[in-house]
Amino acid sequence: MNANAEILENYSPSGEKLKVYTYPAPVLKKIAEPITEFNDDLKKLCKDMLYTMYHAPGIGLAAPQIGKSIRLFVMDIDFNREEVTRADGTKDYELSNFNPLILINPEIEKVEGEILYEEGCLSLPGLYEEVKRVEKIKVHYQDVEGNKHTLDADGLLSVCIQHENDHLEGIVFLERLSTLKRNFLTKRYLKRSGLR
Ligand code: NI
Repeated sequence: MNANAEILENYSPSGEKLKVYTYPAPVLKKIAEPITEFNDDLKKLCKDMLYTMYHAPGIGLAAPQIGKSIRLFVMDIDFNREEVTRADGTKDYELSNFNPLILINPEIEKVEGEILYEEGCLSLPGLYEEVKRVEKIKVHYQDVEGNKHTLDADGLLSVCIQHENDHLEGIVFLERLSTLKRNFLTKRYLKRSGLR
């Protein structure tokens, strides 16, 4: 079995929880570098990013968000998260129905249409806003082995890929809003975060 299948098939979360950088951390504004070496370190990083994403919880996480300026993101738009009460009365969450994706060196081709979707971001906690994106896209990417793939996406999958790909270009979703909205929301966000 190849390493890509090894990570993704019958997935169950394991790994290390990584620190998620929040806006306006400088790493979130950099253009990320292409990945050229498909080695064990990359596989470990992908596993740790998935683990971090599931436990945040979030449906996507790009490498710049954990402080690495490289062209990689992980996603899962299908998993379930359910609150459960343990025998000792403490609350916990149970995750199920995993469908993880790892996209390395992605390149997006816009196909057609427009979609308005409310987005959030682990790097902008507490902020949600509707963003206009292309509805249908084609994305060319590599897996952890370096093999090339193409994926057709629409709806939430397409929105999520475009959001994560923006992180590789040093763009957070705030920058996809009108100037008026962006200025208002940025001020409010920085004030809430105690940064201004
Ligand atoms: Ni994000």
